[in-house]
Amino acid sequence: MIINSKLWLNLKSKAINGQQKISVIGVGYVGLCTAVGLASKGYFVTACDIDPEKIKKINRGIPPFYEPDLQEKLSECIKKGTLKGLHKQTNRAIEETDFTFVAVGTPSKPDGSIDLKYIEEAAGNIGLALKEKETYHVIIIKSTVAPGTTQNLVKPILEQKSNKKCGKDFGLCMNPEFLRQGSAFNDTLNADRVVIGSYDQRSGDSLEALYRDFYKPQAPPIIRTTLSTAELIKYASNAMLATKISFINTIANICEKIPSADVKVVAKAMGLDKRIGPLFLDAGLGYGGSCFPKDVKALIACSKNFGYDPELLESTENVNKKQPLKAVALARQQLGTLKDKKIAILGLAFKPDTDDMREARVIPIINQLIAEDAHVVAYDPVASSTAKFIFKSEITYTTSLSSCLQDTDLCILVTEWPEFKNLKPEDFIKYMKHPNLIDGRRIYNPQEFREKLNFTAIGLGP
Ligand code: UDX
Repeated sequence: MIINSKLWLNLKSKAINGQQKISVIGVGYVGLCTAVGLASKGYFVTACDIDPEKIKKINRGIPPFYEPDLQEKLSECIKKGTLKGLHKQTNRAIEETDFTFVAVGTPSKPDGSIDLKYIEEAAGNIGLALKEKETYHVIIIKSTVAPGTTQNLVKPILEQKSNKKCGKDFGLCMNPEFLRQGSAFNDTLNADRVVIGSYDQRSGDSLEALYRDFYKPQAPPIIRTTLSTAELIKYASNAMLATKISFINTIANICEKIPSADVKVVAKAMGLDKRIGPLFLDAGLGYGGSCFPKDVKALIACSKNFGYDPELLESTENVNKKQPLKAVALARQQLGTLKDKKIAILGLAFKPDTDDMREARVIPIINQLIAEDAHVVAYDPVASSTAKFIFKSEITYTTSLSSCLQDTDLCILVTEWPEFKNLKPEDFIKYMKHPNLIDGRRIYNPQEFREKLNFTAIGLGP
């Protein structure tokens, strides 16, 4: 069923405090998962983006990126008519709906701070559309922005372009997202908490009512706060998780100096303390992806802007910068010189179940191996085509694990894909010229592997 705009306006959608339909500006991970999550629960959602190709795909029921369960739910929503994509046309999206989530990108600038050009553009277009609107409308910033941005940048643009008053003619909220790639859609439906920062009471109440309706019967805890606190909660959460990872990697590096010490056992015992908890204590080659590196840098830049030097966060970042090169140091320990050695790399994606290589820890590792004249052969179940844009013809790409290991002098396990976890020492011995293995993600049993091949791992004492 194709729904034209007149019919859309007249559709009887769910009523929440008189608010009915929802628009989402920006259909990246956050925007599309939010749009499909809402549409799958029966709300009428309009998703807008400046990229016509993305919108074409969405209207055909195809997500522009891979996420488990998203394709199925998106095509269901398109068929049912609860979701439609619009190319630009922010004015139409505002006119047809009562809530607008802004989920445009906030990329990093060279100094670590975030580039707000897409936020400014979206706020400008929404402001112009609000000028034409007669009823109260709630704008919700979902993009990750530095504390103060919604109040000091978004609000003035909206007021100026619409010639209307925030808190009276329209409402403004900040509602950060905590979803993870690989489980983004599921995380949208099953949040640990909802954070609502609001400029005015009415918009915060409306958004809370929307979430209570969305999650019924069991809504997660809903935290109501100011715009800036909501913005900081997002950065603080990601910085805490990143710091936990850099902390355990520091302990791993200490373990490597202590005979018979093992960071995996240290982390397991630490994690049983309820105050510490077991999650995000997996030592390895450090964190990558589109969020942690960018958000830690942005929080450092923002904090310095406010006149505070966040030394702890700088250490978190520094540890993470050095951590991947530990794999190269261990390789040198095993082989002496790396010149002309054939080195197998297992895993290219920044984590399993994605083809995303943004800030992947494998990038500095491969660059260093190339700089030391090693010959790199890589295998990843899905990320090879992404890697080709980065390394071009500087490395060899293989389509199977066995062809990657064939005749190599050393193997570095970089991403813990399930198919690598099942490997036995015999699998390496069978294909490699010299079975030297570095476990960069601690997925192999050291006793078993040390007995049968030349094995080292992050956080394992001599
Ligand atoms: C993260 C946050 O978890 C999410 O809440 C936020 O909204 C976006 O950023 P994501 O980047 O998708 O999500 O991945 P995540 O699963 O958190 O892993 C991030 C990185 O940390 C990966 O490179 C992963 O390998 C690494 N990691 C994670 C560790 O090195 N050790 C751990 O114990 C956990």
